Amino acid sequence: MAESLHKVTYIIEGATQTFDAVDGENFLDLAMQHGIDLQHNCGGVCACSTCHVIVRQGEEFLSEMEDDEADQLDEAEGLTISSRLGCQAKIYGDVTVEIPLINEEIRYLFHEGARKEE
Ligand code: FES
Repeated sequence: MAESLHKVTYIIEGATQTFDAVDGENFLDLAMQHGIDLQHNCGGVCACSTCHVIVRQGEEFLSEMEDDEADQLDEAEGLTISSRLGCQAKIYGDVTVEIPLINEEIRYLFHEGARKEE
């Protein structure tokens, strides 16, 4: 039997890119396969919130949110009611997600802030 594929569209800085996802794949794995810059500071184990995506279409085709994901998502920058963690939400249909931009100053503080203290 043929494996079912779903269309996943990423919105990045207003531009879109669409890829095929296999049933049950997550947004982070798919993004990494195609060179999409989706942050993943914890390596995809639900221990940060840098893989935050905002679902624009097809929310009903995603796996239910587990408690761990909900807890971690609370830390995400720019949280919305349509937010999910890219490494946790599994894809079961055609979906469109937006990758929120990290403000350059926040990115600087996040990565360089500790060094500034020295
Ligand atoms: S990569 Fe850290 S929670 Fe998804």
